[in-house]
Amino acid sequence: MPKFQSLKGFRDFYPEDFAKRAHVVETWRRVAKSYGFLEYDAPPLESLDLYRQKSGEELVGQLYSFTDKGGREVALRPEMTPSVVRMVAERWQALPKPVRWFSVPQLFRYERPQAGRLREHFQFNVDVFGDSSVIAEADVLAVVIDAFRSFGLTPSDVQIHVSDRRLLNRILSSIGIAEASFPLVYGVLDKFDRQSRSVSAEKLVSGGLSGELIERLFERVEKFRTVKSSELLHELLGESDPFIAMMYHLSESVDNAREWVTFDLAIVRGLGYYTGTVFEAFDTQRKFRAICGGGRYDTLLENLGGPSAPAVGMGWGDVVLTELLDDRKLLPSNLPATDLLIFSAHGSISDSRMFAKEIRSLGLSAETVHAGKSHSASGKHAKFVVGIMSDWVTLTESASGLSVRLPYPNLLLSELRTVMIEHGRPPTGSDIVQLMNRKDLHWKSPAGI
Ligand code: HAM
Repeated sequence: MPKFQSLKGFRDFYPEDFAKRAHVVETWRRVAKSYGFLEYDAPPLESLDLYRQKSGEELVGQLYSFTDKGGREVALRPEMTPSVVRMVAERWQALPKPVRWFSVPQLFRYERPQAGRLREHFQFNVDVFGDSSVIAEADVLAVVIDAFRSFGLTPSDVQIHVSDRRLLNRILSSIGIAEASFPLVYGVLDKFDRQSRSVSAEKLVSGGLSGELIERLFERVEKFRTVKSSELLHELLGESDPFIAMMYHLSESVDNAREWVTFDLAIVRGLGYYTGTVFEAFDTQRKFRAICGGGRYDTLLENLGGPSAPAVGMGWGDVVLTELLDDRKLLPSNLPATDLLIFSAHGSISDSRMFAKEIRSLGLSAETVHAGKSHSASGKHAKFVVGIMSDWVTLTESASGLSVRLPYPNLLLSELRTVMIEHGRPPTGSDIVQLMNRKDLHWKSPAGI
């Protein structure tokens, strides 16, 4: 057992794990960019006050914070929203509106490590600032749906549960719950599926709510959980509700948008700053924790001393997603392969190293093995293996085992160079296979055998 191991709740990424993480992050990036979102980043360490003022109470209790050598109280970022709000507020006048940004920061929360929750994670953040229309919500949700699709997930795997705090507030008022009790109700609804009704009721009773009010609340929420039917939605929302309008705009961007979205009055979100639409995505079998979550937060910029500007966004961690994709066998299982693995069988390491240099200049990747035997290449991930012999070169395609002899390394190089010039791009694996199939290039022994 080695003397040191990674800290509890923190992950090592061995190359096979890193390949999975890279697949996740690259998919997020590609989808966000396809909607014109611009990538940004901020420091991982911020002033402790930023979170004290702006994150929910639960998050503040989970901060990795300390006093630095200059006596400043600082914290590792537990979420990206306060940082991005700080950045946007600072340049608000100069930025073209709406501001549509994304980022994939590593975040740190001192949580009890458990399935789906660790002490660090990478979180895809997509936010729109300066757009009060529901088109902003629709764009954020469209990114989420397109990313789900790109990962190979379908609406039978995942559902985005959407609600609206404004609507919930109206319902709470209409059944007689005082505004002062709203945060208590939010806290209970946020854990509605993770704790029993009796525990939820106890919490509300100890917060001063009568049994009758609690019964009315539960009855109301239960009726409008996981609503798919239009009639029920219209009964609750009417024709002109923001949710209906948002779904209309979401359908403009993604096919079959309704299949991915469920209206669910129990969604409130734990964080304090949301003011309107709120949403969370879950796997349909509810085997895992929430996959992602977000909503509208129209007052946070102003509360942080910035302009009065609307905002909407979401955060999506890599931990639950990776568990889900693993479960559905939707993650790459192979390490990324080097294009060419090169060894020299006649003892000259320089031959293979100089050949590799030429290969790289064509835009392909190349690794050399030092031992002069092909089996030292086994276990390495390469699409092709090149063996430099004294009179010829063997070229083997790893996947098929197809192997040919070509006269000398320079012939292979000049043919690959020709491909590059003709097509204006680096040669691909299929170009190499085509070369292997050209009998006119094959090595003929001096004896003509
Ligand atoms: P959040 O709900 O705290 O929201 O986190 C969003 C997502 O981050 C969760 O759904 C989950 O995927 C992941 N996550 C959170 N904590 C952990 C953890 N300890 N381990 C693994 N994954 C975790 C926010 O952070 C908001 N700032 C999102 C947002 C952006 N709202 C508007 N813009």
